[in-house]
Amino acid sequence: MILSGGRIIDPANNLDTVGDLRVEDGVVRTVAAGGTRLEGRPDERVINCAGKVVCPGLIDIHVHLREPGQEYKETIESGARAAAAGGFTAVACMPNTKPVIDNASIVRDLRAKSDAARAARVYVIAALSKGMVNQELAEMADLKDAGAVAVSDDAFQVQDAEFLRRAMEYAHMLRLPVLTHCENTSLTDSGAMNEGYTATVLGIKGLPREAYEMDVARNILLSLMTGAHLHVLHVSTAREVELIRWGKAQGANVTAETGPHYWCLTDEACRGYHANAKMNPPLRTETDLAAMVEGLKDGTLDCIATDHAPHAAYEKQVEFVSAPFGIVGLETSLALGITHLVQPGHLSLAALVKAMSTEPARVLRLPGGTLAEGSPADITVFDPEAQWVVEPEQFVSKGRNTPFAGQTLTGRATLTVVGGEVVYGD
Ligand code: DOR
Ligand code: ZN
Repeated sequence: MILSGGRIIDPANNLDTVGDLRVEDGVVRTVAAGGTRLEGRPDERVINCAGKVVCPGLIDIHVHLREPGQEYKETIESGARAAAAGGFTAVACMPNTKPVIDNASIVRDLRAKSDAARAARVYVIAALSKGMVNQELAEMADLKDAGAVAVSDDAFQVQDAEFLRRAMEYAHMLRLPVLTHCENTSLTDSGAMNEGYTATVLGIKGLPREAYEMDVARNILLSLMTGAHLHVLHVSTAREVELIRWGKAQGANVTAETGPHYWCLTDEACRGYHANAKMNPPLRTETDLAAMVEGLKDGTLDCIATDHAPHAAYEKQVEFVSAPFGIVGLETSLALGITHLVQPGHLSLAALVKAMSTEPARVLRLPGGTLAEGSPADITVFDPEAQWVVEPEQFVSKGRNTPFAGQTLTGRATLTVVGGEVVYGD
């Protein structure tokens, strides 16, 4: 097929030009730049992409797909389809499932389900410890052989520094990135939102920012000590950004991500006890929002990841403090980037594509993130001008728990191509 007349943005190859792109045998065959047109052959589909952006497929390296065990919230298939609808050609799913993804057979099973779904590719992040209880290391070599792309403690933070040190040493030996949810839980016990003025007004116990920051500092030091690749999940505070900037300046092998809600919303969104504004780490303050933008601009924050965390409606329809943490993100992420980062002039479209495709591919060393000729044809086409209203009932995901319901956003995926096959749109 030929994707014709779109604005081709490929940060990996410094390309931002109008042109045609030919997909053949599942790979990018030709990129004809500078307005050059390709002649369609009789057996070829030509898809008009005028006015649209054609870019390497978006990649979300932090999603919760709830399989195995909580298929009522999401499955590999529903998550992979929701990802495709949001313009993602690949995602990496977290191991805090029931049971936990801590053995090779679960990894293999999920990889097979990913292939069967024929939507976005689903890569698997395995648990750092057996059962995610931080007593015994998981069999990382087996997990890697089975296809795991990283190990993580997401949602079950490692409190014991010695344990994390050993985990990092093993992971480093196996060249597996270690993705950590940074939070010192002795400071956050039974907190439900950002500690501060709004929490006081609402009478809700807070989650102090320092609890998260001290763990970021500790984990950077452990990365310096072991040489392991540390990836800091869901950065939410200004000081975390500073610490990561410091770590990078020290030469630490550290990368980091933030999510759309951390540059769009403050803890004010929790007023009214809105459980769909409850996630961990929690929404912070204006100063933190500005720091996320700065971090993305100067590359301290390498990439954007959603922490897509679907929950059933009835689970969220309880008192704020009893509701589970987490919001969905796959189907709003691109639009929140365009609306709140590109439109106000913080990031160029190319920089957004870089943070949502090129960089996530680099962080987890995944295929994709480039339109180089010969690379797999994982491609996203989006309309950067399309305005639409967020209607959770329309989501492909099983989760409807979004704080953005009813908002008008700009920018929407129109076509998602994985391995040369159209998996969404058209
Ligand atoms: O908001 C969150 N949701 N934070 C976590 O750490 C876990 C996640 C989930 O699995 O729902
Ligand atoms: Zn998460």
